[in-house]
Amino acid sequence: MTRFPSHATRATRIVLAAAALACVGGFAQAQQAKLKVGLMLPYSGTYTALGVAIENGFRLNVEEQGGKLGGREIEYVKVDDESDPAKATDNVNKLIKRDNVDVIIGTVHSGVAMAMAKAAKESGTVLIVPNAGADAVTGPMCAPNIFRSSFSNWQPAYAMGEVAAKQEKKKKAITITWKYAAGDESVNGFKEGFEKSGGQVVKQLSVPFPNVEFQALLTEIAAAKPDAVYAFFAGGGAVKFVKDYAAAGLDKTIPLYGPGFLTDGTLDAQGASAQGMLTTLHYADGLNTPRDNAFRIAYAKSFKLQPDVYAVQGYDAAQMLGIGLAAVKGDIGKKAEFAAAIEKAKIDSPRGPFSVGKSHNPIQDIYLRKVDGKENKLVSIATKSLADPARGCRM
Ligand code: BEZ
Repeated sequence: MTRFPSHATRATRIVLAAAALACVGGFAQAQQAKLKVGLMLPYSGTYTALGVAIENGFRLNVEEQGGKLGGREIEYVKVDDESDPAKATDNVNKLIKRDNVDVIIGTVHSGVAMAMAKAAKESGTVLIVPNAGADAVTGPMCAPNIFRSSFSNWQPAYAMGEVAAKQEKKKKAITITWKYAAGDESVNGFKEGFEKSGGQVVKQLSVPFPNVEFQALLTEIAAAKPDAVYAFFAGGGAVKFVKDYAAAGLDKTIPLYGPGFLTDGTLDAQGASAQGMLTTLHYADGLNTPRDNAFRIAYAKSFKLQPDVYAVQGYDAAQMLGIGLAAVKGDIGKKAEFAAAIEKAKIDSPRGPFSVGKSHNPIQDIYLRKVDGKENKLVSIATKSLADPARGCRM
């Protein structure tokens, strides 16, 4: 408490009190409080490895900046979202209302991400989505405070549809996916690209998320004998699906395509069953650029693991946050300036430089990759600078 000499007049006391307050204010500015980052990611269930890779990538970038972004030290608050949309609203509101986080980084699962986007939009809290491709997040739900460092479900899927029809000359395809927003949108994107290029999707199969009982549907595929199968699965489910597909002997007769999630971060476990598979994604092994090489070395040194697309997306979420914070000198309350800085930035990603479109989704090259040993090796750029159509985004 400030003590004044007993003989001070009332006016002197007021002047002294004001000076003391100004001192406190100045100190607070010089010593900005830590920036509270809420990490809402899956740390259990089929997407666990994806959540861990995103956190690793995010932390790596922060460490490379000396532990600070925009001059502010970072404090983490973590929530396991379990990839469960039913718990998503409670989980995100804990971060916003109980923990008073300044920014939320999350998540992997599209259904969970949509609940997060709704809460972020209502509260104005900055949200950076480091994976979930839900088209709606940068479509009808787009907002000045919501950004994505990853992809829309449409992007790699649309590119694969074109590759399967134009380059691989496939005519009739069956799709198979988990039945939730990401799977449905991925299949729709593939169908759009495939059918515009002359192919036809003849059957759409699905199992509930995160079910991995594929046998009955594999039997149905074998009987239908399409030219190609397009599948959306990721994490533990992708490992099981690719192994089951090969164990059923289907890999010998019907090529299996997918967005790169089908084989990214999963090749150790998939082994021989994934060899030769073609997928499309905004990251690949063997890009061999100075930027990616440096990232891969730093990641391997920190985590004793090779990075995957999820690690890149986490790393780039921190880069985007850093760009916004630098522009407002750490004052994330300056929302318009924060957003403007990210909107005009070229983000120096390990995947290759990208910028975000009006809807705040990356405009990026989509690579065609081929599984070779334990790598998703770069084959070519399937689609250059692909922007999500951002249908329904009004900003
Ligand atoms: C999604 O739910 O959006 C998603 C999950 C895993 C990989 C890719 C997309």
